[in-house]
Amino acid sequence: MTGPKLTSGLVADELLADVPENLVIMAKDLIKIYQTGEIETVALRGVSLQVFEGEIVVIVGPSGSGKTTLTNILGGTLRSSAGQVYWSNIRQDISKLEDREITSARRGFIGFVFQVDNLLHHMTALQNVELSARIAGLPKRWRKDRSKELLERVGLGHRFHHVPGRLSGGERQRVAIACALMNNPKLVLADEPTGDLDLVNAEEILDLFRELNAEYGTAFLIVTHSQQIASKANRTLELRDGIISGTHDSAVFLRQLDRTRVLELDNQDRLPMPENILQELGNPRRFQVEVSNSRIILSPYTEGEAAAVQVQLVTCRICGKLVSSSRVTCPNCGTAL
Ligand SMILES: Nc1ncnc2c1ncn2[C@@H]1O[C@H](COP(=O)(O)OP(=O)(O)OP(=O)(O)O)[C@@H](O)[C@H]1O
Ligand SMILES: [Mg+2]
Repeated sequence: MTGPKLTSGLVADELLADVPENLVIMAKDLIKIYQTGEIETVALRGVSLQVFEGEIVVIVGPSGSGKTTLTNILGGTLRSSAGQVYWSNIRQDISKLEDREITSARRGFIGFVFQVDNLLHHMTALQNVELSARIAGLPKRWRKDRSKELLERVGLGHRFHHVPGRLSGGERQRVAIACALMNNPKLVLADEPTGDLDLVNAEEILDLFRELNAEYGTAFLIVTHSQQIASKANRTLELRDGIISGTHDSAVFLRQLDRTRVLELDNQDRLPMPENILQELGNPRRFQVEVSNSRIILSPYTEGEAAAVQVQLVTCRICGKLVSSSRVTCPNCGTAL
């Protein structure tokens, strides 16, 4: 269900004019630098992505690669240091908006599901969902009915009056999902939604996501380490050290990402090199480039090889062997060169 790709390099207004109809959210050249006292941490180093209606996009990547940072910036709860985030509901770059404008635009557009549920533990499941109805700006008279409907929708019709401490991890996560769905979002941003769950519970949450996706065309952007979720994605993005280091246009096997990975040039035409391949090659930092039959061949380049490459070769006129031009006689037949 991937929509048309936009040409990179456009300025903001040109980009908006060209936005495909089925685009839900788009990030362009996101950079995030956290400042802690004297220390700067570069969490995102130029991330661009698009999510289209009805897509399930998965983000994978090692700890610290910037997944949560990216999700929070896309959802407008964290400001990027540079770059743009376009929300299709307002057809605007949210980085130009005030916090209160972002909060109001988020209603009815984005729902968040976090790894650790952020339910209030002294309130029942129903009260928690009703609270999210209040935050979503739903009129008071509809809050209870809508909350019950959503809890039933996530399979918790029999758990209205349980406080989170009396619910299983999977049930708590489903309450959190009911909260996220309150405003019929076009996009659900989920940061490791099955992280703490066992396989059965994780499978249930995933089924729920798939049902919502099929029923309402809700798009999902899911950060996960779970093979179950990754195998259901329409598209998977690999994040490493704050950049998208690979994309996959089909379901993926997390242990065999090399099989389906497509590398994309970034907006400065730089190509991210997959870390595992570099490791296999002994972490070379320099490469020789060869173009052959429309293929680009990169070979690790070392100083020793550099010397070898620069050696001029001559053909011995007697035995025909290729010999270094620095030699006086042919080492094969002894002829003077
Ligand atoms: N509030 C913050 N202040 C300073 N540095 C931060 C802050 N939040 C995150 N970082 C740093 O930014 C980088 C990216 O963090 P982020 O939480 O986005 O990673 P992640 O991919 O979600 O990791 P994980 O898989 O462990 O959740 C890390 O180096 C982290 O230490
Ligand atoms: Mg994280």
